[in-house]
Amino acid sequence: MESAGAESKARRARPVIAIDGPAGAGKSTLAAHLARRFGFLNLETGAMYRALALKAIDHDLSFDEEPELLELAERTRIALKPQLEGNLVMLDGVDVSRRVRDGDVTAAASRVSVHPRLRQWMVEQQRLLGDAGGVVMEGRDIGTVVFPDAEVKIFLDAAPEVRGNRRYRQGVPAQAEVTEEAVIRELKERDARDRNRVESPLRAAEDAVILDSTAMSLEQVLRAAEEIVDAHLREPKG
Ligand code: DC
Repeated sequence: MESAGAESKARRARPVIAIDGPAGAGKSTLAAHLARRFGFLNLETGAMYRALALKAIDHDLSFDEEPELLELAERTRIALKPQLEGNLVMLDGVDVSRRVRDGDVTAAASRVSVHPRLRQWMVEQQRLLGDAGGVVMEGRDIGTVVFPDAEVKIFLDAAPEVRGNRRYRQGVPAQAEVTEEAVIRELKERDARDRNRVESPLRAAEDAVILDSTAMSLEQVLRAAEEIVDAHLREPKG
């Protein structure tokens, strides 16, 4: 896939901050915090995969049939509206922000996102959204594929048990009967799909700063990431 190229780096007055990592690592919280702190737009790319997965569910499409999914994508409008906390997700003009967080959509998004041409379609949209800079873009492949020239790249990781425990305590998913073990199992399944898919698997870019939050408090993660962005902003331009 074509990279965004070194030229755009020289051209951007404000940076692209790429935040990648596995599910449940705290990327959304971190991205929202950095966006507020530095006055950047916060764009959650996972929400775009979720929105398309929701449309596939509503149209009774198979998550394994790339041509049909791609055809669906091409007649779909997905918009992210950055808020103080996360994004409003608009699917063909309808606010689906809550619905896309449901368990069935979460599982479908993980399956839909393995398809190469579908990913390419998403990546094109994401480049349009972020190319001017001044954005914190969060996902799985931002530093490796969407913006390999991002000025700041953070890969936020944590042990699956820790991520699962945090998710469970946050009540995600909200169904009372779900056990912590089930949340961890589901996270590991998503991890495996994200890391092992052929097209843009989840991995840290070579020039990413890796933050492993397994033994860090939220406060420590936020401070460490702020320091990384601050250090970039202090660098002399040119
Ligand atoms: O970050 P999230 O849980 O909202 O992401 C939903 C799904 O989309 C997840 O299974 C991985 C996929 N995804 C992706 O493949 N690439 C991205 N840039 C963002 C998300």
